[in-house]
Amino acid sequence: MSHSTAKVGFYQFAPEFGAVSTNLSNVIAALDQVDADIIVLPELAFTGYYFQDRDELATLAEEPATSTTVSALIQLCRDNNFHLVTGFAEKTEEGIFNSALLINGEGILQTYRKLHLFNTESEYFDPGNKPLQTCEINGIKVGLMLCYDWAFPEVARTLALQGADLICHPSNLVLPWCQQAMLTRCMENGVFAITANRIGSDIRPRGTLNFTGQSQIAAPKGVQLHRASATTEALFTTTINLSQARDKKVTPLSDLLRDRRPEFYTCLTNK
Ligand code: ACM
Repeated sequence: MSHSTAKVGFYQFAPEFGAVSTNLSNVIAALDQVDADIIVLPELAFTGYYFQDRDELATLAEEPATSTTVSALIQLCRDNNFHLVTGFAEKTEEGIFNSALLINGEGILQTYRKLHLFNTESEYFDPGNKPLQTCEINGIKVGLMLCYDWAFPEVARTLALQGADLICHPSNLVLPWCQQAMLTRCMENGVFAITANRIGSDIRPRGTLNFTGQSQIAAPKGVQLHRASATTEALFTTTINLSQARDKKVTPLSDLLRDRRPEFYTCLTNK
């Protein structure tokens, strides 16, 4: 495949809370034989989302270096020659993070730790502590963000300024606004984005959360290339033309990144 196009997609499904090996088997069965450069899975795709407390999270989170889940995903990437972005409950010496991993057949290429924790997440996860960054794979510059980060345009903008062509966005959405907002994130930054959301519910001691599906692939200019159903499992891939993400012009004289006036935005970096 030429470097000006990429085959990208998502797998939307309903992880079962706490059933890490069942969820892993499901992902392996669904993705085996898929032809793609990159596939995105939902946030917290293997553990489920709605933890009771930090103790419960600590029993389900894994250290990437010793995780049997991660090693099986590396093998899946190796067998199929694709890259995966997945949400992952990441246990480390620094804390337990709601993370996104970019994986290929050799290992983990990049880890993103969610910067904007949503609702009760901050009771059991530690806030992300690593800078935003991009990673080049098969000629595609990939940036990672997670779910509620959609509401902070600074995240997508930072990734765009770092050269991202494609934002991979594992999600567990419960609110109705993200998909529409991501069309704007793509328009204002001239990037592609894959929002991989989950379906189904977490019925847990703290209550029930119903996840809203509608995983989406969006293109520069705010074009919705595909949106999945709210309730059914979906594996979707499409070919994107990366040159669309490299031209930031909205008129011959107007350029989304060059026309910025950051000297007037200094309050954005105040606490
Ligand atoms: C979310 O950040 N999972 C809504």
